[in-house]
Amino acid sequence: MEKLSNYVSVEKLDVVCNSIEKAHGLPNECYLGGDYTKYERKYLFEDKWVVIGVASSLKNIGDATPFNLLGIPLIILRDKFNKIRVFHNVCSHRGYKLLQEPCRIKNALRCPYHSWAYDLNGKLISTPHLGGMDKNDAEGFDKSNSNLHEVRSHIWLDMIFVNISNNQIPFEEYINPLNQRWSKFWPEEDQSLIVHAGDSGYFLLEAKCNWKFAIENYCESYHLPWVHPGLNSYSKLEDHYHIQGLPNRFAGQGTLVYNPRFEGGETFPNFPNWPKENEKIAEYVALFPNVMLGIHRDHYYVYWLEPISHNFTKEHMDIYYVGEEAAYSSKFQSLREQNYKQWHSIQSEDLSIIEGMQDGRQSPIFNGGNFSPIMDNPTHHFNKWVAQELLSTY
Ligand code: FES
Ligand SMILES: [Fe+2]
Repeated sequence: MEKLSNYVSVEKLDVVCNSIEKAHGLPNECYLGGDYTKYERKYLFEDKWVVIGVASSLKNIGDATPFNLLGIPLIILRDKFNKIRVFHNVCSHRGYKLLQEPCRIKNALRCPYHSWAYDLNGKLISTPHLGGMDKNDAEGFDKSNSNLHEVRSHIWLDMIFVNISNNQIPFEEYINPLNQRWSKFWPEEDQSLIVHAGDSGYFLLEAKCNWKFAIENYCESYHLPWVHPGLNSYSKLEDHYHIQGLPNRFAGQGTLVYNPRFEGGETFPNFPNWPKENEKIAEYVALFPNVMLGIHRDHYYVYWLEPISHNFTKEHMDIYYVGEEAAYSSKFQSLREQNYKQWHSIQSEDLSIIEGMQDGRQSPIFNGGNFSPIMDNPTHHFNKWVAQELLSTY
């Protein structure tokens, strides 16, 4: 890979790392495509723990789905032991992209080209006519050298994390600061109570902009009164506080008063150890690079980003409740629908904002922006993360 300075000005990245009063945001090059995108894919995605989906989207043993991480073809599957596994999606014979569509693998994943087949552990188990007609083995050909390549992965709160380059610290260590922070709301044993909503539990938004704008916007509550007047009526700007993880891996905001009003008189069950005195607290944290989380006394969501190109991002929203009943029963169906609609409308309100920021980046005079030293700290925190990670490769 060529030097960082060939893609983006190192001086400008240094300025991002200044104290907030003197810092600018990331320079335009970081949003406008070109060769910079390759650099970012390597250092901000392949070399990090990134989210590529949620485990509950693959319900049954053998369920498999293809996923492209900025062009890198992957297979996510549920193996015979009910464990989520991730493999590179390329046949070890001549490199056909093995899996094209989601499917349920019965015994083997068979390549359509010459019918080599792999089991759910990625092991090459069948190579028809490899040694000539009706000879499925060949002297000197060791099948065990041609298994699928597994990707290092970890499941946390239903998210599927991968570290493509296999170079990161262990996931447990990586996530520890956020886990610690949230242990007062849901000690680890309560985290297993989350259940993906059986209905009204998923939506997809498509943003015609760079993935980083979604994170930057998520980090701050400054825009609430103007972009989300509805939300701001029950979760007001003045009730918010900043979150800036150290070491720098996450940032966001919390509210002391999250108090939506739904019709029907029902309320969802709470996490059992959520502190009573802080019932109305909710926290919204972006875990870098590509996932935004929301936790509340009675529900949790994963809003994860699938960057497609420098100016197109898919935003996947998965919503969870506390226990099966809240997630599935008809008793809570109307509440689930109302909650879904609420989040769908809030996240949609942000779309035109972040797309407008993409447009603004075409301006040659824009210096990356000037932060409010009081309101924009978590957004600056994220910008610094990007700049520091890039600079550390220089
Ligand atoms: S490329 Fe897959 S079997 Fe030949
Ligand atoms: Fe917003």
